[in-house]
This record gives sequence, structure tokens and C-alpha cells, in this order.
Amino acid sequence: TLAFLLISLVLSTLIFIFIITISSTKSSPNNKHPPGPSPFPIIGNILELGTQPHQALTSLSKTHGPIMNLKLGHITTIVISSPQAAREVLQKNDHSFSYRTVPDSLRAHDHHILSMVWMPPSAQWRVLKRVCATKVFSSHQLDSTQTIRQKKVQELLSHVGEYCLKGEALDIGEAAFTTVLNSISNTFFSMDLGHFASDKAQEFKDLIWGIMEEAGRPNVVDFFPILRVFDPQGVRRRMNGYFGNLIKFFDGLIDERLRLREASKMEANVCNDVLDSLMDIMMEENSQISRPHVLHLFLDLFVAGIDTTSSTVEWAMAELLRNPEKLEKARNEVRQVLMKCDHQQFEESHISKLPFLRAVVKETMRLHPPIPLLVPHKTEEDVHLCGFNIPKNAQILVNVWAMGRDPSVWDNPNQFIPERFLESEIDFKGHDFELIPFGAGRRICPGLPLANRTVHIMLASLLNCYDWKLDKGLKAEEMDMSEKYGITLHKAIPLQAIPIKV
Ligand code: HEM
Repeated sequence: TLAFLLISLVLSTLIFIFIITISSTKSSPNNKHPPGPSPFPIIGNILELGTQPHQALTSLSKTHGPIMNLKLGHITTIVISSPQAAREVLQKNDHSFSYRTVPDSLRAHDHHILSMVWMPPSAQWRVLKRVCATKVFSSHQLDSTQTIRQKKVQELLSHVGEYCLKGEALDIGEAAFTTVLNSISNTFFSMDLGHFASDKAQEFKDLIWGIMEEAGRPNVVDFFPILRVFDPQGVRRRMNGYFGNLIKFFDGLIDERLRLREASKMEANVCNDVLDSLMDIMMEENSQISRPHVLHLFLDLFVAGIDTTSSTVEWAMAELLRNPEKLEKARNEVRQVLMKCDHQQFEESHISKLPFLRAVVKETMRLHPPIPLLVPHKTEEDVHLCGFNIPKNAQILVNVWAMGRDPSVWDNPNQFIPERFLESEIDFKGHDFELIPFGAGRRICPGLPLANRTVHIMLASLLNCYDWKLDKGLKAEEMDMSEKYGITLHKAIPLQAIPIKV
């Protein structure tokens, strides 16, 4: 009888504990996890990502909702897919969600410790952010560097002119890439990093594309950090090589500038570019910016700024060529503005007078956000979000691609209709959460003002100076608009178009 009593006691205690555990995980709002697909043992939901993770996550979120929980190997991942949920993450709880999950490849050369993109929102990050805001991206700085961008766009137009004369098709993304590369390198270092179709431009392109490709490549180590020491796919090793080359190049530029300053017996501002400004700050007493910070900041700005900007120009031209009547409308608007102010060339001050062109750029970013899942965020503590518990160290992906194509947010979401923005105040500056291709909150892209000017000036100039026709007699409606996933979302088949003199 005693044994029977003991067994009954143990059993009822176990049942009690089980019921308490179940009810606390199921019904307590504090412990409720967001819904999501059931994970497989060990690998979790990795296989469901496929080759186009942003698209796979979009269709999963249609079943599981705008705050979705996945297990990617060992990593708890929360996917945000609605403007309301994005506002909760990036505005209301910004302080809790503004850390980063660092892909293993980005640990090469200690980049994750020194890089503004990957470091946590620390005092050091604030210093770098302030330096960027005041020395590179302020309206004052951008006004003073606009002649550089204009010159580089003129060079682009001459390059296009050569193709026009030959009647050959131009790779628009590639030409845009070289233009942005040179315009950023002149703003930073007062030098070109290559000419169209030269080996040097190709070398830089290969380096930056290599970095984008490795950083965007699914890496088993990111799902199972325990494998970090083995680097089984060799991703970090290759990234080490790419970073090493770029850092060596930037380091050489600093040495050269120091020599120049010494030779000219000037302490500062030999060239009056970003390098000069950063070196001044670096050489201040008790400066919080060291030489490695400057090197990794250049790395950040080159990697984050060139491919994103040039691929936006390529997608915009592709959409316009697919929709000839919109192209005509955008071109007429540009020409009328130039005629009114009696200018031959497009200038950045004209952007505010071009509502349709601005709508074209917004519509392009809605359909083709260059960074479709934003840069991964992370929680540093348990956070309550819309009634769910988001655990400490969860990776947060904000699926702006899904939000841009959500039929409950946009009419005819898959069609290119710039006109939808003409009557609307919606902009991509981080206040309207249905359109946040640059992110929002404290981690919003600091390069937004530069990207905004560069994309508009390139697009307006390409439209103003030439007519365009698709290569090999391809019809507009036949154009392949497939995407190639990576850190930047590229057009899978590069846009080739023939410029025609107007
Ligand atoms: C971060 C988009 C151009 C520099 C970001 C983020 C996005 C983004 C989505 C991450 C936001 C987040 O984590 O929530 C874009 C797009 C561009 C563009 C769509 C062009 C069309 C540029 C340019 C530069 C730049 C031209 C500089 C030359 C950066 C940097 C960060 C960043 C440094 C990291 C900010 C941080 O983590 O604190 N960008 N970007 N971007 N971008 Fe851009």
C-alpha cells in the first residue's frame, strides 16, 4: 500500500509539473512564441529557405503570419513581414532590436569589431555614425561634392555615346557600377578607381562582388556556430583575402596622404576630401577614431554603397524599358524641367522638380529593394513584441520585399505603377513603414541622402540623352525579371540595352 501511495504521489507530482509547464508555455502571454513552420531536428527550417530566401519567407509568412518564428539550425530567427510589425521592431522597440547577428564571414580581419555596420549600437558606433553624418552625408557636404557626381555622370554619358555610335548593347548595371565606384572614390580619395571596361575597374568590381557573394552565401557555420573553427566551406578564408586586399589598398592611400601632407608642409586638407577629414579626426589628441576604424569604415562604405546604388539604377531602367509609356513620361518630365531652366545638363537641384521620376525610384525600391531582408538585427534581451516573447539572441529579419508586394498594403502589388506615389506622401526615409528599403530607426542606412541623389541624377541623365531599345530585338514584355539572391538583390540576367541618339 505504501509503495502504491508513493508511486501515486510521484505520478501526480509529475503530471502537475507537466500541466504547469504546458499551461505556462501555451497560455501565458509572456512566454508565447510567434508561430512558424515545424522545424526538423538539428537542421530546423534551413531547407525551406531554398535559393530565394526572401521569396520562400514571403510565402511562409502568408501561412504563419507577419511575426514568424523559424529555427535555422541552432539560430532562432524571427521574420517580420508587415509594416505594423516592422514599426514595432524598428521604432517602438528600436533600442532592444538594434544589435546585429554577425555572419561568420564578416569576422575576417576583425571586421565585426571595427565595422560600423556590424558592431553593436555602442558608444564607438555612435561616434562613427556621427562622423559619417557630419563629414560625408550632411546636405552641406553633399552639396560641395555634387560637381564630382556630375562629372562622373558626364563620363558615363560619353561611354554610352560610344555604344550609341557602334549600335551595340550596353550592360547598364555594369556601367552604373563603374560610375558609382568612381564617384564615391573621388569623393573619398580624389581619385578614380578605374575607367569603363578597364582592368582596374574590373579588379575592384570583382573584389566588391566577391565580398557581396561570400557575405550572402548560405554558410553552415552561421547555422551551427560550433563549427566556426573549421570554416568548412572556406567562406571566411576567401573573405579574408578580399578584405585583406581592400584594407591594404586603403592603408596605402593613408600612407601616401601622410607623405603628401609632409611634403607640402601642410597639416591638413591637402585634397579636401573625406580622407582628409577622417585623417584630421584620427590625428586629434585622444581621438576615438583609430586608423583601423578608418580602414574598416572605408570598407563598409564601399561595400554598402556601390552595388546597392548601381543595382537600383539597373532595376529602374529595366522596369522603364518594360513599360515604354512610363519611360516616355519620365523622359518628358526631365526634358521639360531642363528646358524651363535653360540647362543642358541635369543637376541635383532639379530632383525636387521631378515628381514622376521620384515616383519611379520609389516604385523601383518597392518592387526591388536592394537588401530584401535588411541587414540582420538581433535582440540582446528577451523582448515582448505584439503579445509574443522574442528570446534573447534571436536573429531578426525584416522582409521588406514581402512588405513591398503585400496585396493588403498595395493595389496590384506586382505591377510597376509609379503613379501610385504621385498622390501619396509615402517616402522611403524611414517614417512610412510600408516602404523601408533603407531600414528605419537608429540602424537606418546613413548613405540614404547620397544614394538618393546618385540614383536620380544617373537615371535622369540616361533618360534625357538617349532613347533606349532592348538588345536582340527582345520585346518589352519578354524581358526576364528574375532575381539573383545575395546581400544585394541583383537582376539575374543583366540588362543589355542599345542607346539611340535623340
Ligand atoms: C545600412 C540600404 C546605399 C552605407 C543599410 C541597411 C539597408 C541599406 C537596408 C540596413 C538597415 C538596417 O539594418 O535596418 C541601402 C540602399 C542603398 C544604400 C537600398 C542604395 C540604393 C548606401 C550608400 C552608403 C551606405 C551609398 C554609403 C556610401 C550604409 C552603412 C550601413 C548601411 C554604413 C550600416 C548602418 C549601421 O548599421 O549602423 N543600407 N543602402 N548605403 N548602409 Fe546603406
